[in-house]
Amino acid sequence: MVGKIPRDGVESVAAPRLTIRPAGVEDALILAQAERTIAATPGFLVSQPSELSDERFAEKISSLTGSDNGHDLVVECEGQLVGHGMLDPLPLAAVRHVVHLTLVTHPGWHGQGIGGALLGSLIEWARNSATVEKIELNVRSSNTPAQALYRKMGFTEMGRWRRRVRVSPDQYLDDVAMELFVS
Ligand SMILES: CC(C)(COP(=O)(O)OP(=O)(O)OC[C@H]1O[C@@H](n2cnc3c(N)ncnc32)[C@H](O)[C@@H]1OP(=O)(O)O)[C@@H](O)C(=O)NCCC(=O)NCCS
Repeated sequence: MVGKIPRDGVESVAAPRLTIRPAGVEDALILAQAERTIAATPGFLVSQPSELSDERFAEKISSLTGSDNGHDLVVECEGQLVGHGMLDPLPLAAVRHVVHLTLVTHPGWHGQGIGGALLGSLIEWARNSATVEKIELNVRSSNTPAQALYRKMGFTEMGRWRRRVRVSPDQYLDDVAMELFVS
């Protein structure tokens, strides 16, 4: 289990070589490149590679830096970025207590505890936040590893959006909606 991570600090986590820290704008290029690589295989991210620009990553990181109702973390292994997790606040006032989760372990680093450690830190941050009450996410119905991770961390399935993600002109995936209350 990951320990409590300070909002502006750095903490070593379960695997000794891993460090989790807040994302910085200088990380945007590497994070965007990794997520474009992941997005090139249908069934993981909804975004397509062309929709994941360096600029959008930099803007998002900047907007979440110091935010009271959003958080953006990266995992480093010996100086290399190996994972990225974000709690993105919903934009309207009435749903300001809800954040949407995005989580990736970079290619070549799966199955080493990175996604679990990152999600544990994000949940811990949300539990300590005065604003956030609920984490929501969507995950493709075919994405068994991610669903297993979310269930393990306490998320509950709320329902399925059928034929929601079109991965080719005549092929669709269902999207699973999940939530976790943190307060
Ligand atoms: C989902 C994802 C973030 C998991 O990250 P990871 O670093 O590989 O996961 P971890 O090694 O920390 O494993 C944590 C848990 O995830 C689940 N899990 C991970 N890989 C799994 C697999 N191949 N099959 C089943 N469950 C798996 C298990 O519950 C595991 O816990 P356990 O080791 O106690 O069994 C990673 O697969 C990923 O980045 N996928 C591509 C992007 C993506 O799909 N993101 C989610 C979009 S909704």
